[in-house]
Amino acid sequence: MRLCCSRCDLSDNLSVCLIVGLNLVPHLLNLVQSWSQMITVRELEITIGARVLMTGVNFQVSKGDKVGLVGRNGAGKTTLTRVIAGDFQQSAGTVESVGQIGYLPQDPRTGDPNETAKDRILNARGLGTLLHKLEAARDDMGSVDEKVYESAMNRYAKLEAQFEANGGYAAEAEAAAIAGNLGLKPNVLNQNLGTLSGGQRRRIELARILFSNAETMILDEPTNHLDADSIVWLRDFLKNYAGALIVISHDLDIVEETVNRVFYLDANRAVIDIYNMGWKSYLKQRETDEERRKRERATAERKASILQTQAARFGAKASKAAAAHQMARRAEKLLSGLEEIREQDKVANIRFPEPQPCGKTPLFAHNLSKNYGSLEVFTAVDLAVDRGSKVVIIGLNGAGKTTLLRILAGVELPDTGQIDPGHGLKIGYYAQEHETLDVAKTVLQNMQDAAPELVETEARKVLGSFLFTGDDVNKPAGVLSGGEKTRLALASLVVSRANVLLLDEPTNNLDPASREEILKALATFTGAIVLVSHDVGAVDALNPERVLVMPDGQEDLWNDGYRDLIVLS
Ligand SMILES: Nc1ncnc2c1ncn2[C@@H]1O[C@H](COP(=O)(O)OP(=O)(O)OP(=O)(O)O)[C@@H](O)[C@H]1O
Ligand SMILES: [Mg+2]
Repeated sequence: MRLCCSRCDLSDNLSVCLIVGLNLVPHLLNLVQSWSQMITVRELEITIGARVLMTGVNFQVSKGDKVGLVGRNGAGKTTLTRVIAGDFQQSAGTVESVGQIGYLPQDPRTGDPNETAKDRILNARGLGTLLHKLEAARDDMGSVDEKVYESAMNRYAKLEAQFEANGGYAAEAEAAAIAGNLGLKPNVLNQNLGTLSGGQRRRIELARILFSNAETMILDEPTNHLDADSIVWLRDFLKNYAGALIVISHDLDIVEETVNRVFYLDANRAVIDIYNMGWKSYLKQRETDEERRKRERATAERKASILQTQAARFGAKASKAAAAHQMARRAEKLLSGLEEIREQDKVANIRFPEPQPCGKTPLFAHNLSKNYGSLEVFTAVDLAVDRGSKVVIIGLNGAGKTTLLRILAGVELPDTGQIDPGHGLKIGYYAQEHETLDVAKTVLQNMQDAAPELVETEARKVLGSFLFTGDDVNKPAGVLSGGEKTRLALASLVVSRANVLLLDEPTNNLDPASREEILKALATFTGAIVLVSHDVGAVDALNPERVLVMPDGQEDLWNDGYRDLIVLS
């Protein structure tokens, strides 16, 4: 770490600087500032293939800074965080960081599959391994062999001191509390990572980072896979976090409540605009900036037009040619000094088409139960989905909402009960983790798999309305950004002519403009929808008639009390 200010040019300690006689106050200010700077980015450029995601990026993030990194889907937010975390190579510029960084990727696949979830979290402070060593030493202390016993005693004392120094048993309780608040049950903590669902793994990773005491946290979409109560808890945790934070989130409440700086990655200009203010002020400031730019443009264009008219008049007379020339040059200068008109982000045009005809009750589920080992997720759930009906499934984390949708979609089998497909049933399943997409196949191939009868030009047309144009359709689905994967999965639904849509958190990862589109599509679809969502806007747009409360499987007519549950929980 650099201990000295840039002005004295010594990477030495404070006393050396005082000896060389610099002014104490600015020196100390510089010193404190350089101590608290956790991330410094200079002249950064990131390119992927031929596309420049961003260029000329400069910023610093200090202790106590809470940065909301925003920009449309596919702008390059995740890629920037990967560069900062050392996971992706930039094409130019430098990134320096001080201290430990806790990085939650948007799509984490980290950790040894044979490690228990609890160890994964505790090892963020090296505690899991220490606990195991303590246990082994304790076992050896029972040995009849004097030598083994002696050595185990010594080992135990040293390990225990180390364990206590790292927070000890209180830290273990702290880790369990964090995991609990993220909706992870104690029995999940004892399972190996390899046996957990993607959503559970993601929550384990988040718990690990929150537990780690890292000086800087970079969280990419931390609310994905969290239920509303966990989101509220996380919001408070982040508010009280004293380190540096960079957060990317489609959940604007979390951005509004936690950030004190906003970095807007403008994909059209490939630059980052930095706003040193909270979310609401940022929105106002952007509007004010936009209006100012419009005003300045209008004024400059008016002046230039006057000058050009005069120049044309004067230009006709030889005696005034010099003045005319001068005026024309001034007009030109005025116009050239103007900023380019900023392009508006394009928005996907999401509309679910007319569903294929079907009988009165296309989907009927009877007596469904599911257990994982000794854990009973739900028992004896019945559900009848009528043509065109709208049903919301609610319940806390672990209540089996995703599992129920997977069973209804036929991708997982129930332990008891069955699904009776009605006449003409055509299911469209949107999986929260996009597991319906084949990551090795291209965007276009995924689309053609979803609707084999679709000719290529038609498939390209639909993809175009979902903002996949030109070469984008040849990208493997695996490299798509979170929001792009969501768009592709939704595009596959659109061509399927499904009459029952099973949607698991369809607004996750979407930028605000794309989210609005999906809300409109939900509101106008004439087929049946079964929705799992903690996004109250999505539930409002659906305007459901019925609710299924998990894990009891109790069905009820929708009323505002249930809406309040989603808002308040
Ligand atoms: N290996 C790759 N090959 C081609 N394109 C890629 C590759 N990796 C990423 N991209 C593209 O780079 C762009 C930026 O992706 P990134 O994941 O950083 O976006 P993002 O801002 O995080 O978007 P989102 O809000 O959807 O998560 C996307 O268009 C993505 O498809
Ligand atoms: Mg991303």
